[in-house]
Formats: sequence, C-alpha cells, structure tokens
Amino acid sequence: MEYSIEISGLHKKYGSRREKGANALNGIDLKIEKGDYVALCGVSGSGKTTLLNLIAGLDVPTSGEVRVDGIVMNDLSEAKKARVRNEKIGFVMQDFGLIPYRTVYENIAVPLYFSRKKIEHKQSIKKVLDATGIRGLSSKKVCKLSGGEKQRVAIARALVNDPDIILADEPTGALDSATKQEIMELFGKINGSGRTIVVVTHDKELADSAKRILTLKDGILK
Ligand SMILES: Nc1ncnc2c1ncn2[C@@H]1O[C@H](COP(=O)(O)OP(=O)(O)OP(=O)(O)O)[C@@H](O)[C@H]1O
Ligand SMILES: [Mg+2]
Repeated sequence: MEYSIEISGLHKKYGSRREKGANALNGIDLKIEKGDYVALCGVSGSGKTTLLNLIAGLDVPTSGEVRVDGIVMNDLSEAKKARVRNEKIGFVMQDFGLIPYRTVYENIAVPLYFSRKKIEHKQSIKKVLDATGIRGLSSKKVCKLSGGEKQRVAIARALVNDPDIILADEPTGALDSATKQEIMELFGKINGSGRTIVVVTHDKELADSAKRILTLKDGILK
C-alpha cells in the first residue's frame, strides 16, 4: 500500500513545556492512502488546523512523526520542508494567506516560482483561474476582492503546481451554495485523477462528498 500521509503518535502542545494547558493534539495515528479523500470534522478548537499545519511541515510536533510520501518531515531542515511542501502539497489556508497588494494572477503564480516541475506558467494559471471561476479577476488586487473571491484565489493557488496532495482548511466557508457546488465538483475531479485530498470542513455536504469522514475531538481522532 502506498501512503500519501502517515502519522504516528502525534502530539502538539503550544507554549513552553512547563506551561500548563491542554494539548492541541493528543496522540494522532492516521494513515491516508494515495488517492484517498478525507473530510476532517470537529468543533472549533479541536485541533484541525494544527493537524494540517503539522502535515504541511509549517509547525513542529511536540512528539510523534509525520511522513509525507514516505519522507519524515520532522528530520528535515526548514528549506527541505519547504521544498517537499512546494513539490507535493497544495495548501488552502483557513485565512487564505494571500498577498493583499498583489494581483490575483501574481498570487496564484507564487508556487510556480519555487517549483522545479516543468509546468508552463501561463497555461497552468489560466487553467486554475477557469476551474475556480475567477478568470475575470486575474488582474485585480486581492485586497479589493470579496471573501468568497479570495477563497477561490487561495484554492487556485493551491492547485496551480499540480500537487499530489491537497490540504484544504474550510475551503468553502466563504462561498455561496452554487460556487460551493462547483468547488466540490472540482475537488471530486482532482481526487478522481488520483490526487489525495484532506479537507477540513463544518459543511455536511462537502464532508459527505469525501470518501471518509474523520472527527477530531480534544486533539484525538474519534
Ligand atoms: N499558535 C498557537 N498558539 C497557542 N495556542 C494555539 C495556537 N494555535 C492553536 N492553538 C490552540 O490549539 C487548539 C487547537 O486549535 P486549532 O486551530 O487547531 O483548532 P481548529 O480545530 O482548527 O479550530 P477552528 O474550527 O476554530 O478553526 C485551540 O485550543 C487553540 O486555541
Ligand atoms: Mg482551524
């Protein structure tokens, strides 16, 4: 069996070791096969974003291990983690993480500047602009967009480098229901082409469109 993501004994506690307070993650064991589509649910504060950040190597666990495509993320330098992330992962962040005073096009192009993949930039950007329905916004500055438009820019940017793994944190939270349907279809198509998807969502419809649903509660998978 080939796994996109393998997690064992993962703990995360924010703050210093001596500080009291609950663990954000309290021992996660999880294997996600290549081509799987997982919805990650759970109430606010249950550790969903923490888990995605650790998978993407954007934060370090207190203990435990994360493997992405067989590579142990903990062992890598920041530069190597960034390389693995760029090569393998598309991340739709909960707060979008866009550059406000740059255009939609420039924001979407960012992952391509760091990419070693042979991707034709213009072509690929056009494709994700169309797929997310924001082609007309290409030259607009991100700070002038609505929340739902920004969300679609964040999705387009996550897809532009053709990643094998898509991590999406509440990717439809700001969308109207018709646009949400389009994004759900897009994710379905991407998953159908063999990509692995992990999507954090409170939306039942989106969760139901995944292959399986996992629920986090107090930093533990139920
Ligand atoms: N940078 C941080 N420093 C300190 N504590 C943090 C930090 N990030 C998250 N936490 C805490 O860790 C716990 C889990 O947070 P996390 O953001 O993973 O939750 P979540 O499930 O994504 O919630 P939401 O649905 O509201 O986005 C929360 O108690 C939160 O307050
Ligand atoms: Mg969150």
